[in-house]
Amino acid sequence: MITIIKNGTILTDTSEFLADILIEDDKIKAIGNFVDMHADYIYNAEGCYVFAGGIDEHTHFGSFHGLSFETSIAAAVGGTTTVVDFVPQRQGQTLLQAIEEHREEAERNAFVDFAFHSMLMDIQTDVLEEIKMLPQYGVSSIKMFMAYKGSPYYANDQSIIYAMKLAKKYGITMMLHAENADIIEIKTKEFISKQLIAPYYHAKARPAIAEKEAVNRAIQYAELTACPLFIVHISTKDALHNIQKARMQGQAVFCESCTHYLVLDEEMLKTERLEGCKYICSPPLRKKEDNEALWKGIKNGFIQSISSDHCAVKGGYQRKIYKYSDFSKVANGIAGVQNRLHILWSEGVCKKRITKQEFVRVFSSRPAEICGLNIKGKLLPGYDADIVVYNPKPLRIIKKEDSLEGIDYTTYENFKIQGMVEKVFLRGKLIVEHEQYIGHKEGKFQKTKPYAYCYDK
Ligand code: URP
Ligand code: ZN
Ligand code: ZN
Repeated sequence: MITIIKNGTILTDTSEFLADILIEDDKIKAIGNFVDMHADYIYNAEGCYVFAGGIDEHTHFGSFHGLSFETSIAAAVGGTTTVVDFVPQRQGQTLLQAIEEHREEAERNAFVDFAFHSMLMDIQTDVLEEIKMLPQYGVSSIKMFMAYKGSPYYANDQSIIYAMKLAKKYGITMMLHAENADIIEIKTKEFISKQLIAPYYHAKARPAIAEKEAVNRAIQYAELTACPLFIVHISTKDALHNIQKARMQGQAVFCESCTHYLVLDEEMLKTERLEGCKYICSPPLRKKEDNEALWKGIKNGFIQSISSDHCAVKGGYQRKIYKYSDFSKVANGIAGVQNRLHILWSEGVCKKRITKQEFVRVFSSRPAEICGLNIKGKLLPGYDADIVVYNPKPLRIIKKEDSLEGIDYTTYENFKIQGMVEKVFLRGKLIVEHEQYIGHKEGKFQKTKPYAYCYDK
């Protein structure tokens, strides 16, 4: 089947030009001018930008109390064609069993393509030894948690160092959640003992220094083991500064931040009653000066990608406040997979904080490279025809009524946005028109390759 997307303005991470895209079946065949050429379908994209479908490299469809892939329709309408999801490992499960279980669930329900990162949660010797097998299972990255002490997610330093050695040996991308668990535990106890239990104290119990210290420690361990490192969801200018310093000294240390750390701040937690619970996530929302430092981090290339860290907590706000006793018991997580494109575009490109090319880099091309998704994230011949046609004209407001994330609020309620996702193609098939899903739930598992970006650069 031949499809042509005509007359659009093509955006890549380095350029912008008027051209047509020729699609043959599920792949991009060529980019150029295809006048009078036969096609089964021709779509006119005049006045629109055309760029590669988003790669959201950090989602929780089913972990951390997040709703599962049945809500991944929100990714599709938001222009994200691949989500890279975290696979939870239950106690006693091998990594393979965890991956197979998660894959079955995703295969039944995914509206977009999906790939996986393994989360090491039941850290026994045989589980660590299984790291080398991951690429054979189609998974080439692991995440470990320096935070969440007392929960199955927490990993001690010894197991992190050991995992780094193995990751390095087999080309696995090592991802770390960097927050100092002891600082958080002590602060949490202090606040609760003083009856300082409001949602805002969730942020105060996880101070910037807890992230800064853990990022530093992670960098030292990565140096010790010569393991390339990818720090997930950084939230502060201090953490970014340390990553930048390590990189300037030649160490392979990379990072992502998330949409919410760019445009929301800790004031959101300071509400009357419990509204602030909507914004409880870890690391917490920070200060406005951190927001601006992170935008600069995109510009200067020290932040590789912007994910959503999408985690639509089952039951939404009502679940977060149910029998509220203090901030430490509230399920962590912020939903954002639907609006990652809109926030980056409207708050980033339209407000001239980033260029259109930088937008494409953090939205699709670099996250694909980070994850070892070698035929996604770019408009190039031979790549999967995952394509967004974006009309930059409509002025709109984000409203809960338009949300498909499956919960009772949107993180970005009342944000003004400029633009509309006109069309989304997934492997050459039109799945979204005017932000309405018209596909048939055809998300497919995508294997990721080892020795990806963090090893390359
Ligand atoms: O609050 C968050 N970020 N929830 C998801 C879990 C994580 O640490 O990424
Ligand atoms: Zn995390
Ligand atoms: Zn996360």
